[in-house]
Amino acid sequence: MNKDNIFEEVRNVRNDFTKFTLLEADIDADPFSQFKKWMQAAFEVDNETANAMILSTVDDTAMPSSRVMLLRGIDNGGFSFFTNYESHKGNQLEQNKNAALCFFWSALQRQVRIQGVIKKLSENESDEYFSSRPFESKVGAWVSKQSKVVKNRAEIDDAFTALLANSTPDIKRPPHWGGFVLIPNKIEFWQGRASRLHDRFLYTLIENNTWKIERLSP
Ligand SMILES: Cc1cc2nc3c(=O)[nH]c(=O)nc-3n(C[C@H](O)[C@H](O)[C@H](O)COP(=O)(O)O)c2cc1C
Repeated sequence: MNKDNIFEEVRNVRNDFTKFTLLEADIDADPFSQFKKWMQAAFEVDNETANAMILSTVDDTAMPSSRVMLLRGIDNGGFSFFTNYESHKGNQLEQNKNAALCFFWSALQRQVRIQGVIKKLSENESDEYFSSRPFESKVGAWVSKQSKVVKNRAEIDDAFTALLANSTPDIKRPPHWGGFVLIPNKIEFWQGRASRLHDRFLYTLIENNTWKIERLSP
């Protein structure tokens, strides 16, 4: 590695993708089953970040925004995650229900891209997931005014310490915190291949539970 000039390194580093293939005979007719297979394989090689994904949202002026999130469920017909409803992403999702997810499993040389429409999870589902979180994270959800400007670190730490001292483990879910589910209408599976000639399969929803599958050029 060229440590003296990391920008040179960025330009010149070359890794070929030769570990796996994804062929017509391998893929499942149902994209959720295909996703579960790949997610399972991702957990087998890395159980710390396998469920990390990029969530992209767009506001009402068409300005996009992306950030890393943790996938918490493959249910309700889609992919669910939890956050602060009043955060930047929460506000964008209020303005525009279209969103996209992107998973990258480096060790497997795989990417999955998902696009679709967002729905809020029910209060019950959010309560249920919230109750499974560690106590400190529950308190944290009350303390964080996610994406708002704060004066300094002490503002956060002081609020946390004060609330922690005055809370019990049965602390309720804050109304501004809960889940979303992205209901997909397109899912693409990408398997890195040699010479940048990757395997790509795009699933497009054509009607209820019926998916068209097409191979895309790398
Ligand atoms: C590995 C990782 C996992 C994260 N998981 C979540 C998550 O599940 N929910 C969440 O609200 N933020 C999560 N974040 C923080 C978000 O990336 C982001 O900073 C935060 O949600 C504020 O985004 P926003 O200002 O666009 O609303 C995670 C960050 C990382 C690096």
